[in-house]
Amino acid sequence: HSKGQPNKDQYISVEQGYHGSTSAGAGLTALPAFHDGFGVPFNWQHKIPSHYLYRNPVGSDPAAVIAASVAALRAKVAELGQERVAAFYVEPIQGSSGVLVPPKGWIKAMRDTCAELDILFIADEVITGFGRTGPMFACEEEGIVPDMMTTAKGLTSGYSPMGAVFLSDHVYQTIAEGAGPKAVGHGFTYSAHPVSAVVALEVLKLYEGGLFENGIKMGDRLQKGLAGLSDHPLVGDVRGRGMLAAIELVTDKDKKTPVPAELQAATRLFDRAWDNGLIIRAFPQGVFGFAPPLCCTADEIDAIVDRTKQVLDLTLEDPEIRAVLRG
Ligand SMILES: Cc1ncc(COP(=O)(O)O)c(C=O)c1O
Repeated sequence: HSKGQPNKDQYISVEQGYHGSTSAGAGLTALPAFHDGFGVPFNWQHKIPSHYLYRNPVGSDPAAVIAASVAALRAKVAELGQERVAAFYVEPIQGSSGVLVPPKGWIKAMRDTCAELDILFIADEVITGFGRTGPMFACEEEGIVPDMMTTAKGLTSGYSPMGAVFLSDHVYQTIAEGAGPKAVGHGFTYSAHPVSAVVALEVLKLYEGGLFENGIKMGDRLQKGLAGLSDHPLVGDVRGRGMLAAIELVTDKDKKTPVPAELQAATRLFDRAWDNGLIIRAFPQGVFGFAPPLCCTADEIDAIVDRTKQVLDLTLEDPEIRAVLRG
């Protein structure tokens, strides 16, 4: 609007992405549970397929997956008309669909394609921001700078509610100049709440005072530890980056058969983990999600890995799981 292009208003996001459940966010989200009954997505919200490396129809070759995503973005932009597309909205790692980690080079390829097509690249770093995957922001891993970035959780480490949107200078200047003497009509009752702002500043000091460094070391230990469980008969895929990880369970490793929905994997895994002293996020398709605090010690990371193995072994003894296991 500030640039006099009000028709450049179409958004593209990625299947299996999660961007919250406000009305605009829910429509960019591509998980059916957040659409049903809410009249979203809106007609300006479009999707392209996920990179989901473990189950991508083009196979698991990173170059092929990147090429397929770039081609899908180009095709969607061509379909909508380049002059109509405002932005591509994406998580550096898709968190709420089971920690789907794109192949190395994916995010850079998508960012470069957006720049070439004159589309804003908006990174949703609500989960990945503030050291969760190692660097301050996951986008840094591939040296890219988004045009806009959304953040929340790690900003205050959850001790006080706060979210923040980062704008690059060119976006800020365009809005500021377009608004002229008018106020920008956007904000919330609790915007810039001083208590949350103080907490965020203290949390940032702790991050930069050693927590990021610890998170990188412990993240490496976590990834190595979980990768060591790959040979377990129930483990189809181990993936993650830094202090964010997932294990996807299957009942047939060759065929990548998911745990049948009627076995209610999420409740089954969560309850068994909880009973064994392990707090995970259990996803409905049978995925363990891990996001331990950046202050974890080596012993705590080792305990997470040991207890995960214990929970996997107990699940293997579960008669209902045994009944659907291959052989
Ligand atoms: C990637 C991502 N974006 C957005 C959100 C939601 O943010 P909010 O609840 O502040 O709208 C979440 C919450 O889990 C998230 O994981």
